[in-house]
Amino acid sequence: MKFFIDTANIDEIREAHSMGMVDGVTTNPSLIAKEGRDFEDIIKEICQIVDGPISAEVISTDTEGMIKEARNLAKIHDNIVVKIPMIVDGLKATRRLSEEGIKTNVTLAFSPLQALMAAKAGANYISPFIGRLDDLSQEGLLLVEQIVEIYSNYAFDTEIIVASIRNPLHVLESALMGADIATIPFSVLGKLAAHPMTDKGLKAFLDDWEKTKK
Ligand code: G3P
Repeated sequence: MKFFIDTANIDEIREAHSMGMVDGVTTNPSLIAKEGRDFEDIIKEICQIVDGPISAEVISTDTEGMIKEARNLAKIHDNIVVKIPMIVDGLKATRRLSEEGIKTNVTLAFSPLQALMAAKAGANYISPFIGRLDDLSQEGLLLVEQIVEIYSNYAFDTEIIVASIRNPLHVLESALMGADIATIPFSVLGKLAAHPMTDKGLKAFLDDWEKTKK
């Protein structure tokens, strides 16, 4: 499973990258806004740190506007993947961008049929938002399971980026289901690495080592 980091924060990206845990980066307008910096500057800086797919999202909601923004974003770096919202105009934009060879990540997917349509339109990636479904007491991971099955049934190349991840179980279950990618917030990445038995065991080893010096 590939790990992307779901943040626009450069310090978080550098730290996760130094752990070898960043195969790519996803951003969205809310994550960019949190940084209080110019959108393009942030994306350019991320491209210098990470050699992998970097998702940058359009703001337009009409097909022509999305295509125009996508072409500009794609010029920033070869690794740019343009995030397109899962609306009808977004599907039209995805199809056209796919013909132009511009990579797309169809975002804000909340149903398996949306994921099927995105794949048919030629999306390179689909982003099901599982935490936001859990928030509505709908099972987000069931959506991932259904998309994995549909894409496998019809051999779509579209890769599944499990998004809106809130906890380590989201990552574990997605990996067991065979989802291609988890895009993980920095705080959750730390939780994946942690185990109290590791800390306890390490402390015991070091305490015992100290005893050898007496
Ligand atoms: O990047 C998209 C997605 O991961 C957002 O997550 O926590 O805002 O639902 P969240």
